[in-house]
Formats: sequence, structure tokens, C-alpha cells
Amino acid sequence: MANPPSMQLLETLAARLGPKGFTRDERDLTPWLEDWRGRYRGAAAAMLSPSTTAEVAEIVRLCAAERVPLVPQGGNTSMVGGATPPAQGGALLLSLRRMTAIRSLSDVSNSAVCEAGVILSRLHEAAAEVGRRFPLTLGARGSATIGGLVSTNAGGTQVLRFGTMRSLVQGIEAVLADGSVFDGLTPLKKDNRGYDLRQLLIGAEGTLGIVTAANLKLVPAIGSRSVAWIGLSSAEAALRLLRELEVSLGDAVESFELVPETALDLVLAHVVGTRAPLGGRHRWHVLAEATAPAGAPSPEAELGKALGEALERGLIEDAVIASSEAQAEAFWRIRDSISEAERKDGPAAKHDISVDVAAMPDFMTGAAAAVEARFPGTRVIAFGHLGDGNVHFNVRAPEGAGPEWLEEAAPEVTRFVHDLVTEAGGSISAEHGIGQMRLSELARLADPARLGAMRAIKQALDPHGIMNPGKLVPLFDLAQGSLAE
Ligand code: FAD
Ligand code: MLT
Ligand code: ZN
Repeated sequence: MANPPSMQLLETLAARLGPKGFTRDERDLTPWLEDWRGRYRGAAAAMLSPSTTAEVAEIVRLCAAERVPLVPQGGNTSMVGGATPPAQGGALLLSLRRMTAIRSLSDVSNSAVCEAGVILSRLHEAAAEVGRRFPLTLGARGSATIGGLVSTNAGGTQVLRFGTMRSLVQGIEAVLADGSVFDGLTPLKKDNRGYDLRQLLIGAEGTLGIVTAANLKLVPAIGSRSVAWIGLSSAEAALRLLRELEVSLGDAVESFELVPETALDLVLAHVVGTRAPLGGRHRWHVLAEATAPAGAPSPEAELGKALGEALERGLIEDAVIASSEAQAEAFWRIRDSISEAERKDGPAAKHDISVDVAAMPDFMTGAAAAVEARFPGTRVIAFGHLGDGNVHFNVRAPEGAGPEWLEEAAPEVTRFVHDLVTEAGGSISAEHGIGQMRLSELARLADPARLGAMRAIKQALDPHGIMNPGKLVPLFDLAQGSLAE
């Protein structure tokens, strides 16, 4: 149904967008045609970089008229190839990176209206200037944009307390597939005018429309924080510790990240300037952060007491509380560098899974043993957001395997892992989305009701299939008898 762009369309777009907003130069395009992990390489006839919502609407109208596909892109940090255009070319890359205005930011409404291209760390800085914060962060905060975060319903390391993007987005402005502008920016607490288009666009991965701005919830800035690094013998002990900390510190616990010894070793080996926070060896580690608002006592004493008691009872093996902001940042740097260290170390089949939080420790142990027995030489490294029931369950290739392992052996490993997750009633994509990487697995494992509804929504809102084709929604191509990816 979709067509490659005609020369006439390209000329019209070039004239409307000007040299800053339109390029066909290979040097400009190349860096944006490959995903962060280097797994996918795409092609595009041009990159469009509008600077206003009106320009986005015009681009979509012109492309819809010729049925030319558009691939929206923010910081290009997708973990699932979501922002990489199809390899056969024909699509246009739509970069939102020039839409960088923070239209408003208020400590009265506790909200910020950000255009799609605002980088997450910039929003953090802007909110801090008025004594507020945007309570979502992740390792890619220096590149990831608001449009990308909304469109992937990103999670990160504060979901435990504040939820994913879904609970932080109060309003959305978007250009739909026919070029019409949906203005849903006003943060209405109550609004029962039927289907919630805002929630539909969150996590839609650009397949239903282009997010041009979002109204985001802010919370009071942190007055003080206490960051601990804890050594333990099992993931089960880690989950029990989280429940105990919640009893002692309540809402103050906002991050609780699980790091296996193997992941810590990779970071120490590959990331310059990192050092182990604890002296001894521990099979598992946890990075926990507790915070208090300005004017309230620091959570340090309470955290120290709870950890001391846990140590006495043998629930944990060791712990240290960062004695300065610099040390707290050093702990976080270790956690946030795991993906980078893994990428440097060699091939791995990556999985982003969730199960019921209470079931996760047993699931991790059982699934790791099953995978390593079924695929000799592989090693499982599962890390991440234990308190959300979400870990990145990565299976490292056997020693000496080259990049071809990813094509030849990894797909079977992935099917095995996803079968275990599905049997446990879990999800094969907890926070990274489906993109192109998980498309065939979603088609294989999702129940017919879910798939049918997703296809119906996609077809109704994007009848010509021009919005990020080949991502998120497994459309069955009857003519080919295969997935149209
Ligand atoms: P892109 O990668 O450019 O795009 C992501 C998807 O959104 C694509 O499908 C794209 O087409 C679509 N899209 C982008 N902009 C728009 C728009 N304006 N309108 C419509 N669609 C759009 N994710 C987590 O959830 N939790 C983590 O802890 C986490 N940690 C990460 C750590 C690292 C080091 C890296 C590299 C990534 C991590 N991610 C994590 C992945 C995460 O998805 C992205 O960081 C972020 O959400 C994507 O933002 P982006 O601007 O880079 O989007
Ligand atoms: C993380 O939690 O570090 C990210 O989601 C990235 C990853 O899965 O590698
Ligand atoms: Zn994560």
C-alpha cells in the first residue's frame, strides 16, 4: 500500500522545510540509519527535521496524499530497532530533534509542556531550576527525547515509586496519520469523552501518529537522598529486603536495582574509572536509593538502621551507604553502564521481560538454569528493575562466538526464554517496546484477542500504513502468507 517518495514530493518538502529541515546528504543521514546496538541498518530517501507542529502536520499531509511511509525518530536510543527505517528504503526519516522548546514549566501547576525533541536531561535541569523534578530517569537520559520516551512508554529506575511514562504524561499533542492535529495537552484530571487517545499514543511507537508535545507531571525536588550498595547471596533475599525497606521507609524508597556479580564484573572491566563499591565478592548486588523532600530529615539514618538489622539477621552480606554525592553518582554510574559494558564485551541475546514481582526471583533462577543447560556455554546475566518485576534477562554467547551467533543461534535462545516467560504469565517486552526486534515473537506468542485489537486499531487510525511501518503491530500479509515486517 505504501509508496516510495516521488521526486516531486521530495522537492516540495525541501522547499517547505528549508536546508535545516531537509537533507538527502549521506553524511547527515548515516548516523541515524543504525540503531544504538548496531543490530539494524536502514535506508531513507531523506531526513526531515521540522521545527514546529504545523510543519509536522504539513509533512504528514503531503506524505499521506502519496502514501509515503514516515519513521519518527528522537534520540535513536531504542533497544528494539524501533526508530530505524526499513532496510529496503522508500521511507522518510522524520527527526523530531529540532522541536526543543519547553513551552511552559510551572511550580504552581507542577507540570512542564515539552516539545518532542526535548532531551530528558534538559528537562531534569529545567525542573530543578524551579525546585521541581521530573521523576523518570534512565541510562540514555543524555540522548533520549520526550517524544521517544512517550512513544515507548519508557520505564527506567524510578518506576517503583512514580510509575512509567503512562502515569507521568498528563496531556499530548500529536499529528495523526491524515495530518490532523490532536490537541490533548490540557491536563484534565477528569475526562470521559470516550476512548483515551492520549493513552493510546503512549507506547504506540510512532505507529498511530507523531507526538509533537507532551504535558508532563513534576514532583517536588529531592531535599536529600541516600544511596546504598548492598551485597547479597540471592535475588530472593533482595526482594525480601525491598519489602522490609518499604515497611521502614515507606514511599521514600524510589529505586531498587538488582545487579548480578557478573554484570558488575563486566562494568569494572569495560568502563573506565569504575570501582567495586564493596570489598568482598557477592553473588548479587542491589543499588537502593531513598529520598526525602526539602525540610524533611534525611533518610540515611533509617536506611542505615534497616540495613544494619538485615545484616545482623543474615538477610544481606554487606552494605555501604554513599558518603557523598560523588560516591552516590559513582554507584549509579555502575548501574547505568551495564548495557554499554555488555555491548563492548560481545554478543548477547537480549530480553526485556516481566513476571509477577513475587515470582521473579524463582523465575530468574529456574530460567537461567534451564537456558544454560539447553544451550551449553551460554551464561545468563539478568539485571535491572527487580521491584517492578522486570529484568533484562540477557543470554551471553559461548566464549569465542562471533557476531554471527546473533543470527544463527540467538533466535532459538530467544524463543526458549520467551516460552518460559509466557508460561509464567509474563510479558516479552516490559519496557523497551516491540519495535522490529520483537515483532515476530509478539505475533507468535500474543493471544488472538490482543493481536486482533491491535491490528484493528492500527488499520482504523493508519489505514494506508504510513506510520512507522514494520514496527509494533504484526500485520499479516495475506498475499505473502507471512508477516509484513
Ligand atoms: P527513539 O529511539 O528515537 O525512538 C523510540 C521509538 O519511538 C521508535 O519507535 C520511534 O519511531 C518512536 N518515536 C520517537 N519519537 C517519536 C515521536 N515524537 N512521535 C512518535 N513516535 C516517536 N528504556 C526504558 O524504558 N528503561 C530503561 O531503563 C532504559 N535504559 C536505557 C539505557 C540505555 C543506555 C539505552 C541506549 C536505552 C535505554 N532505554 C531504556 C531505551 C528507551 O526506550 C529509550 O531510551 C527512550 O525511551 C527512547 O527515546 P528516544 O528519543 O531515543 O527514541
Ligand atoms: C537498563 O535498565 O539498563 C536498560 O533498560 C537498558 C538495557 O536493557 O540494556
Ligand atoms: Zn531497563
